[in-house]
Amino acid sequence: MGAYVHLCLSFLAVISNYNVQAFDIPDLRYLKAYISDDPDGPYHEFLDYSPDLRDQGLDNSIKRVCLTGIWFLYSDYNYSEESTELWGPVRVNGCLDFELTLSTSSLRYAGSPYHLDDSYYNLYEGINYCGREFRGNTNADSLLEFDLRVSSVIICGQSPWTFFTGLQFTGEAVCLYPANIATGNNISLHWNGLPTMELLGLPDNSIRSVAKGCLTDNVYPNNHLQVELGDAVELGDAVELRDAVKLGDAVELEDAVELENAVKLGDAVEIGDAVEH
Ligand SMILES: *[C@@H]1O[C@H](CO)[C@@H](O)[C@H](O)[C@H]1NC(C)=O
Ligand SMILES: *[C@@H]1O[C@H](CO)[C@@H](O)[C@H](O)[C@H]1NC(C)=O
Repeated sequence: MGAYVHLCLSFLAVISNYNVQAFDIPDLRYLKAYISDDPDGPYHEFLDYSPDLRDQGLDNSIKRVCLTGIWFLYSDYNYSEESTELWGPVRVNGCLDFELTLSTSSLRYAGSPYHLDDSYYNLYEGINYCGREFRGNTNADSLLEFDLRVSSVIICGQSPWTFFTGLQFTGEAVCLYPANIATGNNISLHWNGLPTMELLGLPDNSIRSVAKGCLTDNVYPNNHLQVELGDAVELGDAVELRDAVKLGDAVELEDAVELENAVKLGDAVEIGDAVEH
């Protein structure tokens, strides 16, 4: 219990620190959440994480979003792994109308808190970008309490990143390039993301260190030729990930590139904490 309280406090510390940063440093990232699909209707503009949309009076009521950046919308509070629905639009000055009002209860962005296209990584404890996260913009020779606990990953910016199964950049490695580019108004956001480690080509909960650059010949997605995806997985186009992916019984992920479709998640729950390296 003591450890849990400690994690909660460090979560709050990180968030308030980001509030300061967000206003000190001009940035392009935003998400405007509308409760109707009327473009002239009222909206709330988010610049930062919101673990509980009741705080903005927007719990279960988002119908349309306009945004710059990668934003995740979770159907449970605190980005919880109990979320049964996840939306992850990636846009630069783009909008998205949802057919039905979303059951979104928390939201956060991925990528650098400082500048939109800065090189950055987010490592999540849950699959599908759920749960607590370890994030940073520099090499990490260990992931501290996230050691052997990472289940999904996002990178942003123009640099590739290499993920290692050993401490201090040893062991098995996979390099991930920011192969997707979202653009608008002459602004580009480079990014890539995998909702499970198996899709990246490493076992779940195996990452122990992270380095900037591509430090291995084992480059995603070509490494997929050797990867065991298991018989419940259908991966249509390994490079673009445009097609539907089915992952076992508990998860359905459609359109992994746009990250825009509903995801049904597994069960484990843990919430709250964020650590920046
Ligand atoms: C984009 O950049 C080009 C060349 O710099 C410029 O001509 C054009 O007006 C810009 N477009 C926008 C929407 O800013
Ligand atoms: C979210 O996490 C915070 C901090 O850990 C906790 O105090 C709060 O009760 C959680 N909210 C919900 C709705 O679970």
